[in-house]
Amino acid sequence: MGAKKSPPVEANRRVRGRLVVRGSTRVVGIIGDPVQHSLSPLMHNAAFEALGLDWVYVPFPVKQGALRQALRALPALGILGANVTVPHKEAALRLVDEASQVARKVGAVNTIVVRSGRLYGENTDVHGVRQALRGVALQGSSVLVIGAGGAARAVLVALEEAAVSQVIVANRTLARARSLQRRFSKPGFRVEAFPLTAVNDPQCLSRVRLVVNTTSVGLHGESFPTMAIKASPLDCVFFDLLYGRSTEFLRQARQARREVMDGTEMLLHQGAEAFRLWTGRRPPIEVMRTALQAASKA
Ligand code: ATR
Repeated sequence: MGAKKSPPVEANRRVRGRLVVRGSTRVVGIIGDPVQHSLSPLMHNAAFEALGLDWVYVPFPVKQGALRQALRALPALGILGANVTVPHKEAALRLVDEASQVARKVGAVNTIVVRSGRLYGENTDVHGVRQALRGVALQGSSVLVIGAGGAARAVLVALEEAAVSQVIVANRTLARARSLQRRFSKPGFRVEAFPLTAVNDPQCLSRVRLVVNTTSVGLHGESFPTMAIKASPLDCVFFDLLYGRSTEFLRQARQARREVMDGTEMLLHQGAEAFRLWTGRRPPIEVMRTALQAASKA
């Protein structure tokens, strides 16, 4: 009694205008290689600050081969969770103690929550895709997905949930597209595999509601194949999972006056869902979106 009441843990994130990290600060972060260019630290730290939460989000550069050690260190260091990015998402699924049904279906973990010393793996990319596409009526439609890697699998899970009836997967390595076909095709959700050249086949684009680019083609100077966009319906939407740069995929779609979307909304919503899982708080979406948009422009 009479002792000076200590401030609540979640107070005074800023002291004389500077953000402080103290003994009580809770830590989450992102595990990947590279992580230097990730916008997630900016987005999450803006959200923590906006809600006055004494939390911090830090980048953890983790080389291939060091993931097991890094994940074991999370509970040992008192770290409460982490996002997982390239090249570790698939390996993370094998290394967590428990994984959600969605993460198992995608075959990848992008978010880890530490619960009582155990690692729980989730895939919030599916939520990100779902939210990014919430304005596009997809039920019963056909969709063209370009690429057949981990990002394509997250898109397929979201498309299945959205009751899409047909998906054409076009990929450079046909065998990988076929493997997605085997994994996902079922009555009412037909998945067909094609080589990448299918993107320039007017028949493949003639009835699609949506085209999603899940590849990184064009980022490193490779040229993106010409697409038969003119054959697509006028209201067809072109969605690139890459964000913050104008890609050859989106350039072609813009030129043909089709609606385009980059990956910013997906990044935002996968992050918001991770934030909710870690903190149990409703994510401040607008704050996170503003932080991302400012960083993309910088
Ligand atoms: P992610 O988890 O991000 O999807 P990934 O599993 O490595 O990463 O998949 C990358 C996708 O981009 C694959 O579909 C890949 O095609 P392949 O299966 O043929 O490798 C595609 N991709 C990457 N570089 C490409 C290129 N230069 N031309 C065509 N496709 C490319």
